[in-house]
Amino acid sequence: RSNSSNSLDFKEVYSLYKFTENIRFYKGFSRQKTIKFTMQNVGSDFQINMLKSCDKITTFAIIMGKSEKYGILFVCLGNICRSPAAQAVMQRIIEERNLSDIVVDSAGISSYHQGDLPDQRMRIHARRRGLDLTHRSRQVKADDFELFDLIVAMDDSNYDQLRRLAFTQEEADKVVRIADYFRQFTTYDCIPDPYYGGAEGFEIVLDLLDDACHSIADSIAKHKLE
Ligand code: 4NP
Repeated sequence: RSNSSNSLDFKEVYSLYKFTENIRFYKGFSRQKTIKFTMQNVGSDFQINMLKSCDKITTFAIIMGKSEKYGILFVCLGNICRSPAAQAVMQRIIEERNLSDIVVDSAGISSYHQGDLPDQRMRIHARRRGLDLTHRSRQVKADDFELFDLIVAMDDSNYDQLRRLAFTQEEADKVVRIADYFRQFTTYDCIPDPYYGGAEGFEIVLDLLDDACHSIADSIAKHKLE
C-alpha cells in the first residue's frame, strides 16, 4: 500500500462535511467562510493530513460544493482501468471547455484494489494521450448516491449492481449506462473490461471514453440552458 496511513479516509472526509454543515447551519456562514473556519479549527495535524490526502480533496470539494456543483461519478469493477481513465478524460474536457461547475470522481464496485493507483497498462496508454492517471482506487459508498448527480456505469454488470445499491428511486435514477452516450461507436453496448486482454483493449477504452465524455458534457451543458 502506498497510501499514507494518516491520509483521511472517506468516513473522515464525510464527518468533516457533517461538521461544516453544522457550522453553516448554526452560524449562518457562507461556504467560503465555513471552509476558512473549519481549516482554522481542525488543528494543524488534521490540516496537514487533509492536504496530504490530495485525492480526497476532490471528494471534499464535491461535498462542499454539492448544492452548486454538478457531480459525476464514473464506476467500473476495479476502479483501476476504465473509471479512473473516464475521470481523467472528463477532467480534461471540463478544463478545455471551461465547465468549472462540473466535478468528477470515480469508484469501483469492488474493493479489490482499494488505495491502488490505476493499472500500469492503463496509465501508459493514457499517458500517450497526455493524461496522467493519479486517482487512488476506492469502493462505491452509500453516500455517493446522495452526493453525486450522475453515476455512470461502464457496463451492464456495473449498472445492475449500482441500481441495487441505491436506496431510493431518486438515487437509482442517477445511475446511467455510458453506452447510452456513444455517438461514434454505436455498435458498442459497454466499455469492455480491458483487464485480461491486450494493448488494443486499453486503446478502445480511451476511444470510447472520448466519444462518451464529450457527449455527457454536451448533455449537461444543454440541460443547463433549458
Ligand atoms: P476495471 O478493470 O473494472 O476497468 O478497473 C478491472 C480491474 C481489476 C479487475 C477486474 C476489472 N479484477 O478482477 O481485479
